[in-house]
Amino acid sequence: MTREEALESVKDNVENENSVKHMLATEAIMRALAERLSEDKEEWGITGLLHDIDMELTEGDMSSHGKLGADLAREMGASETMSHAILAHNETIGVPRETKLDKALFCADPLTGLIIAAALVRPDKKLASVEIKSVRKRFKEKSFAAGANREQIATCSELGIELDESLELGLKAMQGIAPQLGL
Ligand SMILES: [Fe+2]
Repeated sequence: MTREEALESVKDNVENENSVKHMLATEAIMRALAERLSEDKEEWGITGLLHDIDMELTEGDMSSHGKLGADLAREMGASETMSHAILAHNETIGVPRETKLDKALFCADPLTGLIIAAALVRPDKKLASVEIKSVRKRFKEKSFAAGANREQIATCSELGIELDESLELGLKAMQGIAPQLGL
C-alpha cells in the first residue's frame, strides 16, 4: 500500500475535514518519531495516517473503534504490526501495547490535539508562531485542550523520548505540514 492509496482511503471513509487533518498530523509526528528512533518512516507514517479511518464508520462506538480500522488496514495490505498498533491505540479494546509502533501511535495521537490548540490561541492561528516554551506551559495547564490526555502524551518516555523532546518533535513535525493542516 502506498501513502497515496492510504490517504485516498482515509478520504473515502472520513468526511470530517478536521478528522482528516488529525490523521495527517498524526502521520507527521509518527514519521518524526520513526526518524528519531531509526525505524521505518513509511510504515510508521502510514499507520498514523490510517489510525482513525473507522472513526465515522463506528459512529462513536468505542468498543469497535480500532477493530474495524485494523481490519480495513489489513485489507489494504498493511502489515500485522501496523494493524496491531491501530487496534491497540484505543485502550477501551484492551489490547496491550507491545511494539514500539504501538507505543508511538499511542503517544502521538493526543499530542496533535494539544499542538493544534496551541496554534489556535495565537493571534494569527498559525503553527509557525507557536513557540516550544508555550507548548510546554500549556501541557501543564490541565484545563487547556483538556481532551488531549497528558498522561498518554507522556508515554513517549516508554520509547526513551522524554516529554520536553517529544513536545518539540511533535511541534516541528506539524509545523512541517502546516499548509496541509490549514494552520
Ligand atoms: Fe486519533
